[in-house]
Amino acid sequence: MTGLLIRGRVLTFVDEPRDIADTSSYRYFEDGALLVVDGRIAALGDYADVARTAGVDTPVADHRPHLVLAGLIDAHIHFPQMQAVASYAAQLLEWLNTYTFVEEQKFADEQHAQFVAERFLDELLRHGTTTVAAYCSVHPQSVDAFFRAAQHRNMCVIGGKVMMDRNAPPALCDTPQLSYDDTTALIARWQGTGRLHYAITPRFAITSTPEQMEMSAALVREHPDCYVQTHLSENREEIALTRSLYPDAPDYTGIYEHYGLLGRKTLLGHCIHLSEREMQIMAETGSVAVFCPTSNLFLGSGLFDREKLRDHGVRIAVATDIGGGTSFSMLKTMDEAYKILQLRGQRLSPLHSFYMMTLGNARALSLEDRIGTLERGTDADITILDSRATPAMRMRMDAARTLQEELFVLQTMGDDRAVAEVYVAGSPMKTEL
Ligand code: GUN
Ligand code: ZN
Repeated sequence: MTGLLIRGRVLTFVDEPRDIADTSSYRYFEDGALLVVDGRIAALGDYADVARTAGVDTPVADHRPHLVLAGLIDAHIHFPQMQAVASYAAQLLEWLNTYTFVEEQKFADEQHAQFVAERFLDELLRHGTTTVAAYCSVHPQSVDAFFRAAQHRNMCVIGGKVMMDRNAPPALCDTPQLSYDDTTALIARWQGTGRLHYAITPRFAITSTPEQMEMSAALVREHPDCYVQTHLSENREEIALTRSLYPDAPDYTGIYEHYGLLGRKTLLGHCIHLSEREMQIMAETGSVAVFCPTSNLFLGSGLFDREKLRDHGVRIAVATDIGGGTSFSMLKTMDEAYKILQLRGQRLSPLHSFYMMTLGNARALSLEDRIGTLERGTDADITILDSRATPAMRMRMDAARTLQEELFVLQTMGDDRAVAEVYVAGSPMKTEL
């Protein structure tokens, strides 16, 4: 059998950890290996066993003593905001109007969109992220650029054209009919092509008229296999404006509910200031609340209440939300998630953080049969982490005794420097970046 043996300390989750000591939630092989054949994981286990299966001629990528994990997943990010990160503004609406809506206008130019898309995906890979759910701009050519760049790298990504027909500069507005026609054409072109998935993307209720919401509803009915992504309840001023634009809705979530946009493939960014009823309807419909910690802190939006959402049975994902978010790193994202939950008096164990970045996000995206895990038969998207990447990390790691401690050091002190290598469908990517 040909292929590639990837050797290292292999860690993969099989379920959500119940607590910090839940060793049944993961599999760990101290001298472990993966056998990758044709972009998929053909075997997983102790090196000696997997090497025997592979045969003597199989090349070995020896990553010892590093950790071998499933590729990290980012459930909410804006690709046209790569050059809007770190823009100095007060809060959400000012930030959108002053920087974001200006920046996104540049994506009318397909060459610019392609230039940014290539660098955007390379930067994600450098940070160990192999899958994203991305907002493109209102321009269909930005979606083509994004998917082309992902296809070229054989990445599994979700993306969609932002639909917006009001409360934005005219150059960024489509119309209900145009957004329907463009989205329909993009779905026909990209959905299910290779590892690409389409997300119907009404930006948020403020930038869509009821007529455009109707069009979104029609698209969801016509394409039940597609995702839906939008924003929900991020900022108090945003909520007040939204309620004034949809006075008949019982609450913000009720708008998306009314238009049939909630469901198991619906990703709702932020979900910070929700009522009991809103959490209930999210749980009933299986909609996903996407926690974006660095963005919520940067824009002063508020503190995500993970425990309350979990108590209501709401599915949860985690994400960078670049460019409201400030880091491409999922490690840094979990570091900030930990701190937000500290301020809420809630705990997030390192096992749970690593579960969330991998299998947890894969489950939230309903992609756990393909990514987020290193189980046999899944796609070989793999991230290699070095917990001794910096002098300070080496000093700290000299005092670490357990795997859990190591994971917490990686999350708290790590970033792109800790990513030793990243594989997409079995091909090493980082060495080339
Ligand atoms: N709400 C609507 N659009 C956006 C966006 O681009 N970023 C964030 N953080 N919130 C939004
Ligand atoms: Zn966002």
